[in-house]
Amino acid sequence: MKTVALVGYGYWGPNLLRNYIELPQAWVEWLCDTRPEALAKAKGRYPAVKGTTDYDVVLSDPKVDAVVIATPISTHFPLAKAALLAGKHVFVEKPMTGSTTEAQELVALSDKLGLTLMVGHTFVFSPPVHKVKQIIDSGELGDIFFVTSSRVNLGLHQKDVSVVWDLAPHDLSILHYWLNETPNKVAVSGRACINPGIPDVAFINLGFPSGIVAELQVSWLSPVKLRRTIVVGSKKMLLYDDTETVEKVKIFDHGVDFKEPETFGEYQLSYRTGDIVSPKIAGTEPLGLEATHFLDCLETGKRPITDGAAGLSVVASLEAADYSLRHDGVTRPIDTAKVTDVAARGTVGGAG
Ligand SMILES: NC(=O)c1ccc[n+]([C@@H]2O[C@H](COP(=O)([O-])OP(=O)(O)OC[C@H]3O[C@@H](n4cnc5c(N)ncnc54)[C@H](O)[C@@H]3O)[C@@H](O)[C@H]2O)c1
Repeated sequence: MKTVALVGYGYWGPNLLRNYIELPQAWVEWLCDTRPEALAKAKGRYPAVKGTTDYDVVLSDPKVDAVVIATPISTHFPLAKAALLAGKHVFVEKPMTGSTTEAQELVALSDKLGLTLMVGHTFVFSPPVHKVKQIIDSGELGDIFFVTSSRVNLGLHQKDVSVVWDLAPHDLSILHYWLNETPNKVAVSGRACINPGIPDVAFINLGFPSGIVAELQVSWLSPVKLRRTIVVGSKKMLLYDDTETVEKVKIFDHGVDFKEPETFGEYQLSYRTGDIVSPKIAGTEPLGLEATHFLDCLETGKRPITDGAAGLSVVASLEAADYSLRHDGVTRPIDTAKVTDVAARGTVGGAG
């Protein structure tokens, strides 16, 4: 059994705490939050968990094996670094840090100290996302041409970060997991419609070294909730709609074949619209799988699927996207050399 401390009990922390409490292989010793009222709220529900507003109390407790961080983005780096230096394994919520430099420092530090560093890329542990990964890896879709996605709803406007840093980590981590590569360029247009200086809608265009292109729409302003991703391949096409209750993934045997002219003449296109198949997908909660994976990595010393390198890949893309958004949509290269050097040491496997 591993002893865990949770830091941050705001909107997301309660979900993490519930999942760690429910797992028999974890014991939650501490809950740390700078707001005493957050601790009081948790105490009513989980009386056995000790509460503190002082992070040093958590770090100086030798019983604590790992720290789970669910605080605002700007605090991820100092809290995670202090935990690693105190000899604790770290799980930190997405995005791993607020800059590539910070992300690289955490990756290097966890490697040097031999401690686990895992990032809360929750969707990588979601059964439909895992199913799509299997489908892509099987070659059923053929070569991937492009991906489009919409992650929009009337969402909670964040006070400190743009919608890019808040919502795009989900799609970027999904793409990193599915395609096993980091984009090498990004161009973003967007607008701060409500709160001046904090963009709440963005259209993110990505290019990958393999030639794949992707467009991600993220917004906190939309009349409907969309969580819809389309993957178009040379053989088949796929729709992943996370708002569906049952048929979240559909594979379309649709495509267009290009026939080279045999003689000097016109080329021909043949259109194919075949079966639409929806595979059976387990309804397991991603957060439970994510927490189980973290504890399993602590036990076995395995590198997490969403390790520091995966976190760094997402942060590098976010940083470049943010630059483009603030510079009139200029195409910004992503320095993949920095990212892949580290990512090459990571392992990308099946969730759970
Ligand atoms: N994986 C997911 O699907 C998912 C979903 C939502 C949020 N998140 C992530 O979770 C993190 C937290 O988001 P949130 O919406 O819960 O934020 P929030 O502002 O609602 O809660 C943050 C909590 O951290 C506490 N806090 C701040 N600084 C602290 C410090 N130095 N020490 C201890 N406690 C501190 C605050 O008092 C607050 O209770 C963010 O990184 C966010 O991106 C992840």
